Amino acid sequence: MSLLSQTLARVKPSPTIAITNRARELAAEGRDIISLSAGEPDFDTPEHIREAGKAAIDAGHTRYTAVDGIPELKRAICAKFARENGLDYAPANITVGTGGKQILYNALMATLNPGDEVIIPAPYWVSYPDMVLLAGGTPVFVEGAMANGYRITPEQLDAAITPRTKWVILNSPSNPTGAGYGESHMRGLTEVLLRHPHVWVLADDIYEHLVFDDFEFVTPAQIAPELKDRTLTMNGVSKAYAMTGWRIGYGAGPVALIKAMATLQSQSTSNPCSISQYAALAALEGPQDYIAESRAVFQRRRDLVVEGLNACPGIDCPMPEGAFYVYPSIKALIGKTSAGGTLIADDEAFASALLDETGVAVVFGAAFGLSPHFRISYATSDEVLADACRRIGKFCEGLV
Ligand SMILES: Cc1ncc(COP(=O)(O)O)c(C=O)c1O
Repeated sequence: MSLLSQTLARVKPSPTIAITNRARELAAEGRDIISLSAGEPDFDTPEHIREAGKAAIDAGHTRYTAVDGIPELKRAICAKFARENGLDYAPANITVGTGGKQILYNALMATLNPGDEVIIPAPYWVSYPDMVLLAGGTPVFVEGAMANGYRITPEQLDAAITPRTKWVILNSPSNPTGAGYGESHMRGLTEVLLRHPHVWVLADDIYEHLVFDDFEFVTPAQIAPELKDRTLTMNGVSKAYAMTGWRIGYGAGPVALIKAMATLQSQSTSNPCSISQYAALAALEGPQDYIAESRAVFQRRRDLVVEGLNACPGIDCPMPEGAFYVYPSIKALIGKTSAGGTLIADDEAFASALLDETGVAVVFGAAFGLSPHFRISYATSDEVLADACRRIGKFCEGLV
């Protein structure tokens, strides 16, 4: 009898984590490696948030808490939704989990039956399809074409909806492309969703605060209040406040869904870390300067990377609206051979040869469901990014 369950047999480990690990191994062997594969800010958590975590330990906030979050944090999350998104939620509409990842997982596990479909715009964050599979559902991919800024169109969404559609996942700004749905683009999608009352909306707003130039963030329940009763708005402190390791994410939605998610959490992990909850409270209620400061840094890095990559022969890199990723096309390089003798048959071969021959670790597009591309996370210093672009440029010049 096989050790693994049939459910687990359907899913694969996260490819981004696999590539990050491979880069670490090569670095441990003494190779000069630049890893641009991990999706987390390179800054430290702001000091007042760190202090709140230490104070929570000293104040004895080291015991079990309410399963899906302490009341103070739920109230602070309600205030955040009112202040930043014009959304009116009560604490009973809020659930707090171990990262946004657990919120998404709980929502899918609590609602999907075998055969239920979940629409996932591609390219997508690597975890969505596998979470849907783990929950017994069926991912349905809709391709956001590069020519359309990697956004799906209302017509494409409409055509993908069937009587089995349970959820559509919308992630703006997006991992892996950085593409954002501004108000007119989002409204195009919400108008379609209003015509299909059986479809629920999972809004992954984790990159809300990382938006550039004059792009204005919107979330579906905000611009289409009629959708609020069938929307789970997910967010968290990981990317907004450089708190990836603290593991606090949250969701807001109808009470019945929130309760079901809490039931699942009560039988799996129970409360998210008590200390982290107090730190998240300080993040939401304290000074918000970090957000604007980090946004300015990320915008400068985005400009540097887009310019650097577009100077590489054969790479075409659009300018993203947000997050800290770029997702260039390498269509012009497919079929060429690297200086080290590797045939660039696809984006996986490109990423593998790039790592072997130049020490730059990027994630190949197939992992995100749209090829031939690769993803760079530019959450690292300007010097490292400039060095990476130089190495990628040299690699591309060496292709014949
Ligand atoms: C699109 C997207 N959603 C959700 C998450 C989950 O973040 P966390 O679990 O750290 O809150 C990530 C993290 O990489 C992400 O990129």
